[in-house]
Amino acid sequence: MSIDSLPEFITAIERIGELVRVRQPVRTHLEMAEIADRVMKLPGGGPALLFERPVQEDGRESEIPVAINLFGSLRRICLAFGVDRLDEVGERIGELVNLKVPEGLMAKLSMLPRLAEAAKYPPRVRSGKAPCQEIVWRGDDIDLDRIPFLQTWPGDGGRYITLPMVITRDPGRGTRNVGMYRVQVLGKNQLAMHWQRHKSGAAHWRAMAERRETMPVVIALGGDPTAIYSGSAPLPPGIDEFLFAGFIRRTPVDLVRAMSCDLDVPAEAEIVIEGYIDPSEPLVMEGPFGDHTGFYSLADLYPRVHVTVVTMKRNPVYPATLVGRPPMEDFWLGHATERIFLPLLKLTVPEIVDYHMPAVGIFHNLVFISIDKQYPGQAFKVMHAMWGQGLMALSKVLVIVDKEVDVQNPDEVWWTALNYIDPKRDIEFARGPADVLDHASANFTFGSKMGIDATRKWPEEGFTREWPERIVMDDATKRRVDEMWTSLGIGIHPRSPAGGRIP
Ligand SMILES: Cc1cc2nc3c(=O)[nH]c(=O)nc-3n(C[C@H](O)[C@H](O)[C@H](O)COP(=O)(O)O)c2cc1C
Repeated sequence: MSIDSLPEFITAIERIGELVRVRQPVRTHLEMAEIADRVMKLPGGGPALLFERPVQEDGRESEIPVAINLFGSLRRICLAFGVDRLDEVGERIGELVNLKVPEGLMAKLSMLPRLAEAAKYPPRVRSGKAPCQEIVWRGDDIDLDRIPFLQTWPGDGGRYITLPMVITRDPGRGTRNVGMYRVQVLGKNQLAMHWQRHKSGAAHWRAMAERRETMPVVIALGGDPTAIYSGSAPLPPGIDEFLFAGFIRRTPVDLVRAMSCDLDVPAEAEIVIEGYIDPSEPLVMEGPFGDHTGFYSLADLYPRVHVTVVTMKRNPVYPATLVGRPPMEDFWLGHATERIFLPLLKLTVPEIVDYHMPAVGIFHNLVFISIDKQYPGQAFKVMHAMWGQGLMALSKVLVIVDKEVDVQNPDEVWWTALNYIDPKRDIEFARGPADVLDHASANFTFGSKMGIDATRKWPEEGFTREWPERIVMDDATKRRVDEMWTSLGIGIHPRSPAGGRIP
């Protein structure tokens, strides 16, 4: 059964024993973040937290509880998606994109259910009043200070909304975009929108500015967990995140028309902030913000959002996350994306066997890729193909290894790569767009990239020396040692492999 709302997700998390209710008052100013940081650093990602008595900056207790780290473990991400393994979603996508029209009428007919599956989940727009519109603030009633937004790090420019679905529309094509972009609270009815220049929301804004039109924007908080996740997924522009969420959960996302503009919002959102951006207005200073790099991102100019209406459920829960030095909750959101997008990557770069973005690499800094190498120079082809794929264009260091290397195990990748490379021969430098958060690139959002070809080298690649074999004990000896192990009195883990899986 699908999980349709944030409270249902929280109940499901509680049922599997991964929720801690914090019943004592905790301040939204730094204290919640410090608690969440310690929890997120626990092995496996720590429990989800529900702060039932948030204390706001003016000392008042808020009636709106704060949920944090809801997505922060493999088990909870799987729970959110209704799967046992994250790869299940990717496999379903793989089946869809690999559909081949078979010979014969009966075989063709047997394809229909699978094709129908793809068309089954477009979002549905409800009529009438939705749960997210039980309470409505308009005009002077709008007061964002009554919502327990967090300040997460001491040097931050203020309070931020950190786990939103930012909904906009492409003025040309009319398609919707949902993006997870942090939003700074500037006052009772003013926000600053931090969509980075490479993201779809920013593209819509540039298009609206060109037309000199006011841009409606909605910030929805909460909803079913796949809808929340979908805002962070790097879908190609024009593909609706809510359709994608419906596909993941096998049930359409229910939407309702916003009250002050013609954008649709998840009917089960907890809180909805509707507003507009006037592209003719000067930009505002956004930041600094303690970011997922583990460093503060510097203050910069971003568009101001004027809030027109705030709606919410009668008893809403405010969902938040904390970013900072990894690992944090966002690792798990990114990990879900990594797994789901593997079959799509393979469509255009078919030699890819697997890939992994380890937590320390914060997604854009480091990507490990294993390939089925069939010809000389293939690792270089793969590097450039990756730098040509959507947001992969921003990845700074790529390490390409052969198919037998387990890229999910960073120790194994580095051990192999460092043994296999001759740096001068195997390192490729390229130039291209850099992540907005890369503070080291030679220029803002433009810098260099490094690809490391850590595959075994072929004669055509200039390698003619003998290549040594990996050291592996023979099976007969292993069996004999297994049999004698308990009598040796050494203890546990008779067959544990060296190194473990770490994110
Ligand atoms: C917790 C979290 C916070 C994020 N904050 C931002 C942000 O402030 N600005 C931004 O441009 N991207 C941010 N991202 C990344 C985007 O959500 C991500 O790149 C997404 O694919 C963008 O969607 P789009 O391609 O529809 O623009 C964040 C991601 C996560 C998981």
